[in-house]
Amino acid sequence: MHLAGKKIILAVTGSIAAYKTPILVRQLIKEGAEVKVIATEAALQFVSELSLATVSKNPVYSNVNDGSAWNNHVALGRWADVMLIAPCSANTLAKLANGLCDNLVCAVYLSATCPVLVAPAMDEDMWHHPTTKANLGKMRSYGNTVIPVAHGELASGLVGEGRMAEPEYIVDFVSGFLNNDKPLTGIKAMVSAGPTYERIDPVRFVGNFSSGKMGVSIAEELAKQGADVTLVLGPSSISVQNSSINIVRVESAEDMYKACNDAFPTSDIAIMAAAVADFTPANVADEKIKKHDDSLVINLTKTKDILYSLGQQKKDGQLLVGFALETNNELENAKGKLAKKNADMIVLNSLNDDGAGFGHDTNKVTFVMANEEIELPLQSKADVAKAIVDHIKEMKHAEKTV
Ligand code: CTP
Repeated sequence: MHLAGKKIILAVTGSIAAYKTPILVRQLIKEGAEVKVIATEAALQFVSELSLATVSKNPVYSNVNDGSAWNNHVALGRWADVMLIAPCSANTLAKLANGLCDNLVCAVYLSATCPVLVAPAMDEDMWHHPTTKANLGKMRSYGNTVIPVAHGELASGLVGEGRMAEPEYIVDFVSGFLNNDKPLTGIKAMVSAGPTYERIDPVRFVGNFSSGKMGVSIAEELAKQGADVTLVLGPSSISVQNSSINIVRVESAEDMYKACNDAFPTSDIAIMAAAVADFTPANVADEKIKKHDDSLVINLTKTKDILYSLGQQKKDGQLLVGFALETNNELENAKGKLAKKNADMIVLNSLNDDGAGFGHDTNKVTFVMANEEIELPLQSKADVAKAIVDHIKEMKHAEKTV
């Protein structure tokens, strides 16, 4: 009984997946939840009101007014511990993302003081449409949580992404969410973070301005969600709060290469957020270099590309994420890196965005995958870290359901 005493509003909207909702209600109740169902009129063409009322043991509301009675959407939104919108059609998603309020589901959503979980359901082409992506991005940026869609047969006869997650998965997700469970328990993750220092002599180095904040936030978020995390951290003064994180401190690109290559074979997820030096002094002077001459030439040689080397050894089931910091032709360069380094996703930072990149507490990123991009708003690095981890979970879920 993982949901004992939990109050759930299930909002059913107009998608073929609505036919699964009586089973979903049954399973939520079996786990101890109390469920009240609201529905759009379109939803009730796919599933009967009587079925939902019978399994939930509560009346099903679909209008703000029922004859002479007003259905108090504010009270409904305040009653619940969580509002679950499943299935969430493309139409309802668009309405919610833009604050429309022309039915009871929208009114309850706008008045809800509880967290909202959205389980989208639509055909693959709709799922990949830029408008849908933008709407999902908006919903996430308002603090809502998106339950990953599944991959499989769709009502159109196509096979692809966009299916509503199965009721069992949704029940697990809701229970993990409400019980603050750790959905990444059992997952091994590796994160690289911070700059690298390339020694010139015993007292000097070539480095960069990376603070390590973004990578450390990602490691903290993964650990918070239960992953077993190894953080390969270059010279950074950022403190790591979660004591369960295994920190491997390194200095140079070569050290980082070795540490990452050691940890990668047993990792399920690797996120390379470090700003690795691309060049290192060809020779390190044993003694401090004296200023005898008016100029000094330091020969630099290329370092090994860690992300590339991990991409070469990546096995099925391993998910590899890189970062790209660009100043021009951002998307094109990020796509090039995705392909060249055999990564599953590149988190693109543009130095052209105010408040993004090195040193800031905020960041503005775009997720670049082989067949889609998701642009996120400017937000705190902790929120960007959460968005990255949530997206990785979606990718892993999609992979499992292929
Ligand atoms: N990276 C790496 N090892 C290197 C250089 C970069 O693992 N020696 C990783 C970074 O951690 C990041 C990604 O590669 O995840 C992109 O790094 P970036 O410096 O932006 O790209 P480069 O491939 O080095 O290309 P360029 O500097 O020419 O833009």
